[in-house]
Amino acid sequence: MKAGVQRYPAVAEESSLRGRQGSFFDRANRQLTYLRVSVTDRCNYSCHYCMPAGGWKASPRAELLSLEEIARIVRVMAKHGVKKIRITGGEPLLRKNVTDLIRWIAETPGISEVALTTNGHLLPQFAEALKKSGLTRLTVSIDTFDPVVFEELTGGDLARVLTGIEVAQQVGFKNIGINVVALDNINSGRLSDITQHCWNRDLTPRFIELMPIGGLPYQQAKHRYNYASIFDELDREFGLVERLKGISAHGGPARYWTASKGPWLGRHLGTISPMSDGHFCGDCNRARLTARGGFRPCLANDEEVSLLHALRRGESDSHLASLVSNAMAGKLDAHRLTDGTFIPLTVMTGIGG
Ligand code: 5AD
Ligand code: SF4
Repeated sequence: MKAGVQRYPAVAEESSLRGRQGSFFDRANRQLTYLRVSVTDRCNYSCHYCMPAGGWKASPRAELLSLEEIARIVRVMAKHGVKKIRITGGEPLLRKNVTDLIRWIAETPGISEVALTTNGHLLPQFAEALKKSGLTRLTVSIDTFDPVVFEELTGGDLARVLTGIEVAQQVGFKNIGINVVALDNINSGRLSDITQHCWNRDLTPRFIELMPIGGLPYQQAKHRYNYASIFDELDREFGLVERLKGISAHGGPARYWTASKGPWLGRHLGTISPMSDGHFCGDCNRARLTARGGFRPCLANDEEVSLLHALRRGESDSHLASLVSNAMAGKLDAHRLTDGTFIPLTVMTGIGG
């Protein structure tokens, strides 16, 4: 092997990746502290950039992790340094008894944050139970505040989502985050308007560049509104100043900004630019667990190891931990979404957002 060529660790060395109090590290010395857990691959919306046009065949229940199995995996993860869990889908509120799972996770020693990302459709009836179950943070996806465009893009009902957010605020959720995928000709040119809609309601928007996850035709470059355009539009209106503390406080790939002018002085927003930021993966602290029990070190790489099969073979917690550790050893240093050579073929709803 030539000097300077990045070397994959030999199997014997992999245990060293589970060093420092048994935490999981990858070859780039990034520590796994945050696990995104998908609880279902079903969704009641059909966002064009997420769902295949012909629909998506959801997995039969027997092929999904049970809630008890998920809770066990989370306990193992927490023993090895994972502190934050985010529940995702598909649409996670479609999973029966998801609030039981959230309660178990919230009670797991070592877990300090349990968040959930939802399309908001079922929030009116679930917000209170979510709060009672110990959920600490809520993120809702809203790409546009125009109800007609919203319906066209997602098949959903914006009024209902906004009602759900109000109920969530009434039961005590604070600083709810809004994920906005920036889309050319859909919400481009309207991002400052969207931001003001959010700030008016005490919500914090995060603008996300469209990624080619699942290789859907809708994700082609013509719908991508790149980070430079997102930033220009927002900076012109609000005079964005980066919050360095925010970055280190949150970790991970999002950047946080504060408005420095106008009536919105001091308000915050976030940007996530996987396609434009060359250092996007440098601080990555996360991995994913799919609803089918696959542990996936990187959203943008289809390689995964089945924890579902290991659990159902009756493997021990330490064996599960070694599977995670080995998978982390194969984590890409950086995604390859931008050059088109390495596009994950699993669609977003199958991975978990
Ligand atoms: N690119 C960027 N963001 C996406 N999401 C879903 N698919 C994509 C994609 N291809 C977003 C959803 C949701 C979050 C979990 O991921 O809008 O807010
Ligand atoms: Fe459902 Fe979220 Fe995908 Fe939209 S982006 S179809 S709400 S899983």
